[in-house]
Amino acid sequence: MPTFADARALAEMTLAEHLPDRWRHVQGVAREATRLAELPGIDRDPLIQAAVLHDIGYSPIVARTGFHPLDGARFLAARGYQPRVVALVAHHSAAAVEAELRGVTGLDAHEDEASATRDALWYCDAVTGPAGETVTPDERWAGVRGRYGPGHLVTRFLDRAEPALRAAVERTDARRAANGPI
Ligand SMILES: [Fe+2]
Repeated sequence: MPTFADARALAEMTLAEHLPDRWRHVQGVAREATRLAELPGIDRDPLIQAAVLHDIGYSPIVARTGFHPLDGARFLAARGYQPRVVALVAHHSAAAVEAELRGVTGLDAHEDEASATRDALWYCDAVTGPAGETVTPDERWAGVRGRYGPGHLVTRFLDRAEPALRAAVERTDARRAANGPI
């Protein structure tokens, strides 16, 4: 079974050269995930592995259909990653909403576990900017809308997905507040 070091090496191999900002982003997400992994009710290994792997589907080495959550998930499944890690990647940050807008099928081969661990992954993606910088979720979503522009599919996805993304962030914030500083 792959370790976090294996996962990080795979992310570096697929992203660092081709998409250096994306590589910085996933390192930022993994850093945040490592902190949140200390919270009770969060499963450390699936979270930190999914964090560093969640965007590998953008890599030209990995991309097949062009829908990065699914391409990443399939690539990982073929390499023996735990089904839980694969499913967390497949469903990260409301990917099912985007799949529906794009008319992509196949995501339902994986289950969205809708857990504290999954919320934490969505949280980490929402507080890490496109080059790994720490941002607020509102800055993150404004940045996405700004990069793609009104009417773009990604902007329409965000309009539709924002309540679910915000809910995952708020649940994670509540878990952090209940636990005290980590
Ligand atoms: Fe992503």
